[in-house]
Amino acid sequence: MKPILLSTIAAAMMLGSGAVHAAAAALYAKNCASCHGKDGKGQTTMGKKSKVKDYTTAEGQKWSDADGVKAILEGSGKMKGYKEKGITEADAKELAAYIRKFKS
Ligand code: HEC
Repeated sequence: MKPILLSTIAAAMMLGSGAVHAAAAALYAKNCASCHGKDGKGQTTMGKKSKVKDYTTAEGQKWSDADGVKAILEGSGKMKGYKEKGITEADAKELAAYIRKFKS
Protein backbone atom coordinates (compact mmCIF):
# COMPACT_ATOMS: atom_id res chain seq x y z
CA MET A 1 0.00 0.00 0.00
CA LYS A 2 2.61 2.51 1.07
CA PRO A 3 4.97 2.34 -1.94
CA ILE A 4 1.98 2.84 -4.26
CA LEU A 5 0.88 5.89 -2.29
CA LEU A 6 4.38 7.35 -2.31
CA SER A 7 4.80 6.90 -6.03
CA THR A 8 1.40 8.53 -6.56
CA ILE A 9 2.55 11.53 -4.57
CA ALA A 10 5.84 11.63 -6.46
CA ALA A 11 3.97 11.47 -9.77
CA ALA A 12 1.58 14.21 -8.67
CA MET A 13 4.53 16.39 -7.70
CA MET A 14 6.14 15.91 -11.09
CA LEU A 15 2.89 16.87 -12.76
CA GLY A 16 3.02 20.53 -11.88
CA SER A 17 2.24 21.35 -8.27
CA GLY A 18 5.85 20.43 -7.54
CA ALA A 19 7.23 23.96 -7.48
CA VAL A 20 4.90 25.11 -4.70
CA HIS A 21 5.50 22.03 -2.58
CA ALA A 22 9.23 22.26 -3.10
CA ALA A 23 9.04 25.81 -1.70
CA ALA A 24 7.03 24.61 1.31
CA ALA A 25 9.50 21.76 1.82
CA ALA A 26 12.42 24.19 1.78
CA LEU A 27 10.68 26.56 4.23
CA TYR A 28 9.85 23.63 6.48
CA ALA A 29 13.39 22.26 6.45
CA LYS A 30 14.82 25.68 7.25
CA ASN A 31 12.34 26.93 9.89
CA CYS A 32 10.32 24.07 11.28
CA ALA A 33 12.21 20.78 11.20
CA SER A 34 14.33 21.74 14.24
CA CYS A 35 11.24 21.21 16.40
CA HIS A 36 8.74 19.27 14.33
CA GLY A 37 11.37 16.99 12.78
CA LYS A 38 12.10 16.27 9.12
CA ASP A 39 9.57 13.45 9.33
CA GLY A 40 6.96 15.43 11.30
CA LYS A 41 7.28 13.24 14.39
CA GLY A 42 8.80 15.98 16.52
CA GLN A 43 11.45 13.66 17.93
CA THR A 44 14.15 16.33 17.98
CA THR A 45 15.82 17.78 21.07
CA MET A 46 13.80 20.99 20.70
CA GLY A 47 10.67 19.12 19.71
CA LYS A 48 10.78 16.91 22.81
CA LYS A 49 11.44 19.92 25.02
CA SER A 50 8.50 21.90 23.66
CA LYS A 51 6.28 18.78 23.49
CA VAL A 52 5.26 19.03 19.86
CA LYS A 53 2.71 16.61 18.52
CA ASP A 54 3.48 13.68 16.26
CA TYR A 55 2.15 14.81 12.90
CA THR A 56 2.26 11.29 11.47
CA THR A 57 -0.70 10.30 13.67
CA ALA A 58 -4.39 11.20 13.45
CA GLU A 59 -4.14 12.49 17.03
CA GLY A 60 -1.35 14.87 16.06
CA GLN A 61 -3.36 16.18 13.13
CA LYS A 62 -6.37 17.22 15.22
CA TRP A 63 -6.28 20.89 14.27
CA SER A 64 -8.14 22.69 11.55
CA ASP A 65 -6.36 24.22 8.58
CA ALA A 66 -7.36 27.64 9.91
CA ASP A 67 -5.81 26.89 13.33
CA GLY A 68 -2.67 25.56 11.68
CA VAL A 69 -2.27 28.67 9.55
CA LYS A 70 -2.91 30.88 12.59
CA ALA A 71 -0.35 28.96 14.67
CA ILE A 72 2.25 29.33 11.91
CA LEU A 73 1.62 33.07 11.50
CA GLU A 74 1.01 34.06 15.11
CA GLY A 75 2.63 31.28 17.11
CA SER A 76 1.32 28.62 19.48
CA GLY A 77 2.79 27.69 22.86
CA LYS A 78 6.58 27.58 22.57
CA MET A 79 6.45 28.24 18.85
CA LYS A 80 6.82 31.83 17.81
CA GLY A 81 4.81 33.31 14.97
CA TYR A 82 6.47 33.36 11.60
CA LYS A 83 4.67 36.41 10.23
CA GLU A 84 7.51 38.68 11.36
CA LYS A 85 9.95 36.39 9.64
CA GLY A 86 8.32 37.03 6.28
CA ILE A 87 6.09 33.98 6.05
CA THR A 88 2.89 35.03 4.26
CA GLU A 89 -0.56 33.58 4.68
CA ALA A 90 -0.12 31.75 1.36
CA ASP A 91 3.16 30.24 2.63
CA ALA A 92 1.45 29.23 5.88
CA LYS A 93 -1.30 27.44 3.94
CA GLU A 94 1.31 25.56 1.92
CA LEU A 95 3.16 24.66 5.12
CA ALA A 96 -0.02 23.40 6.77
CA ALA A 97 -0.75 21.31 3.65
CA TYR A 98 2.83 20.04 3.73
CA ILE A 99 2.44 18.98 7.38
CA ARG A 100 -0.78 17.11 6.54
CA LYS A 101 1.26 14.86 4.24
CA PHE A 102 3.30 13.47 7.12
CA LYS A 103 0.29 11.35 7.95
CA SER A 104 -0.44 8.88 5.16
C1 HEC B 1 10.61 26.12 18.82
C2 HEC B 1 10.01 24.91 18.25
C3 HEC B 1 9.08 25.06 17.06
C4 HEC B 1 9.38 25.53 15.80
C5 HEC B 1 10.73 26.01 15.28
C6 HEC B 1 8.16 25.43 15.03
N1 HEC B 1 7.15 24.93 15.81
FE1 HEC B 1 5.23 24.57 15.23
N2 HEC B 1 4.71 24.18 17.13
C7 HEC B 1 5.57 24.09 18.20
C8 HEC B 1 4.81 23.86 19.41
C9 HEC B 1 5.40 23.68 20.80
C10 HEC B 1 3.46 23.83 19.02
C11 HEC B 1 2.23 23.62 19.94
C12 HEC B 1 2.10 22.19 20.31
C13 HEC B 1 1.76 21.37 19.11
O1 HEC B 1 0.72 21.64 18.50
O2 HEC B 1 2.51 20.43 18.77
C14 HEC B 1 3.42 24.03 17.58
C15 HEC B 1 2.27 24.04 16.83
C16 HEC B 1 2.25 24.08 15.44
C17 HEC B 1 1.07 23.94 14.63
C18 HEC B 1 -0.37 23.84 15.13
C19 HEC B 1 -0.72 22.45 15.46
C20 HEC B 1 -1.68 22.44 16.60
O3 HEC B 1 -1.72 21.41 17.24
O4 HEC B 1 -2.38 23.43 16.85
C21 HEC B 1 1.45 23.98 13.34
C22 HEC B 1 0.57 23.86 12.11
C23 HEC B 1 2.88 24.19 13.34
N3 HEC B 1 3.34 24.22 14.63
C24 HEC B 1 3.64 24.32 12.21
C25 HEC B 1 4.95 24.83 12.23
C26 HEC B 1 5.62 25.33 11.06
C27 HEC B 1 5.08 25.30 9.63
C28 HEC B 1 6.84 25.77 11.47
C29 HEC B 1 7.91 26.45 10.63
C30 HEC B 1 7.50 27.64 9.89
C31 HEC B 1 6.93 25.52 12.91
N4 HEC B 1 5.76 24.96 13.32
C32 HEC B 1 8.03 25.80 13.69
C33 HEC B 1 6.95 24.21 18.14
C34 HEC B 1 7.67 24.71 17.06
